[in-house]
Amino acid sequence: MSAFLTVGHRDWPSYLLSLRPKPTISGPTTPIQLQAILHYATSKVTPQQSLQEITKSFNVLRSCKSPCNFLVFGLGYDSLMWASFNPNGPTLFLEETPEWVTTVLKDAPWLNAKTVSYRTRLKEADRLLASYRHVPDCLPGKAFLKGNRECRLALENLPDEVYEREWDVIMIDAPRGYFPDAPGRMAAIYSAAMMARARKRVGNTHVFLHDVDRKVEREFAKEFLCLKFKVGGVGRLWHFEIPPNNSTSSTKFCD
Ligand SMILES: C[S@@+](CC[C@H](N)C(=O)[O-])C[C@H]1O[C@@H](n2cnc3c(N)ncnc32)[C@H](O)[C@@H]1O
Repeated sequence: MSAFLTVGHRDWPSYLLSLRPKPTISGPTTPIQLQAILHYATSKVTPQQSLQEITKSFNVLRSCKSPCNFLVFGLGYDSLMWASFNPNGPTLFLEETPEWVTTVLKDAPWLNAKTVSYRTRLKEADRLLASYRHVPDCLPGKAFLKGNRECRLALENLPDEVYEREWDVIMIDAPRGYFPDAPGRMAAIYSAAMMARARKRVGNTHVFLHDVDRKVEREFAKEFLCLKFKVGGVGRLWHFEIPPNNSTSSTKFCD
């Protein structure tokens, strides 16, 4: 058997070639992928997203031109998996809880995770949605993220590396949005939409949003990520493909 496996593929009989599994991520296995195999093969704790949900972003990351810039809101049991799905590109995690960053990085110091402070509370979601249109610095034609103190939906104080890179894939699975004083996902959704619109490189930005069984996630997604850009969804995950938009006169995100 081992002698058979060591011969070049060109020497395989054609019927066996057709059975050969197609490689999904090309190139040699990287250290982070090996770490992920070791971790998930020996851990009883698995990611919260379902196989069907994870497969959606896995397929997009697999087809993303290398290097793929991958921004993930939230640090969790899935972080090593996300980083290993993007072995040749930068994967940056934004996490609300400094203690949780320390806990996760203790076991996985090779992950690039930064703490983010949010200026919103879940209980303010309805008010923020109703009032942002009256704040000029929140409107899509005029808004910006870095240093935007006026618009509370703008993540204005992120590490520079977030603003300096154009993100090909954005996963929003944080911050927490299941109790009134939690930050909620409003600012993450708004800021992801702003990043996608500001893209200068060719191509669209893929945005994945988890927990769309909740009203706030759905309402803010409809307002800022736009249903017309929704290209798929499964379980509690929605997938958007958002084109760049450099119009300086837009007053609505989803015209
Ligand atoms: C909704 S969870 C997403 C979990 C992620 N999808 C996973 O599979 O682990 C998002 C947030 O919950 C918090 N969190 C998740 N697991 C935690 C834990 N074990 N301890 C403390 N906070 C946690 C973190 O703030 C994280 O950003």
